[in-house]
Amino acid sequence: MKKIAILGSGYGSNFEAISRYLKDVDITCISDNKDAYILERAKYLEIPSLVLSLDEMEKYFDENKFDLVVLAGFMRIIPESLLKKMGRCINIHPSLLPSFKGKYAIKQAFLAGVKVTGITIHEVTLELDSGRIIAQYPVMIDDSMHYDELEEAIHRVEHIIYPQVVEKLLNNEPINFSRDNCSGCQGNCGGCQG
Ligand code: GAR
Repeated sequence: MKKIAILGSGYGSNFEAISRYLKDVDITCISDNKDAYILERAKYLEIPSLVLSLDEMEKYFDENKFDLVVLAGFMRIIPESLLKKMGRCINIHPSLLPSFKGKYAIKQAFLAGVKVTGITIHEVTLELDSGRIIAQYPVMIDDSMHYDELEEAIHRVEHIIYPQVVEKLLNNEPINFSRDNCSGCQGNCGGCQG
């Protein structure tokens, strides 16, 4: 059975989407924040969870190996020594990288007035939000769109796309999103009409 670790510092909605989607994958939830809601989700999904500081993670990932480490709202920069121990590590970012790196990416895109933003799943490297792009999916911003609607659309697409990407990486399958992959975006992506 494939083994993954999902790391998050906060709300954990991507963790929940991935955990509900994957079948026959051994999942461990890890947080650096003991008060994070992701830990509540792990509890009700009956997924083992751990709270570890970055230092403790060094030891943990030295002793425990995973097919993939999945960052989902993990708000720490991962030091080189830890990244080496983790092995392959991917992240999701709520913009079309390389645009709008860093914090508040959805807001940055909205305030910039772009007509297309989206999500990116990428390899984690030492440089923030800069590793090789694995998958992207667009979200259109029309003139009447409110900020809250954009946020909702971004998260909806994240929850559809990230689980599929994780599954495809674990199965060594090619990643090529088309309209077939995104039922449920309700027309806010650029690839289909909902
Ligand atoms: C997601 O929108 C993710 O793209 C973003 O944090 C949110 C976590 O939500 N990540 C980044 O901004 C990384 N730079 P979640 O905890 O509900 O999954």
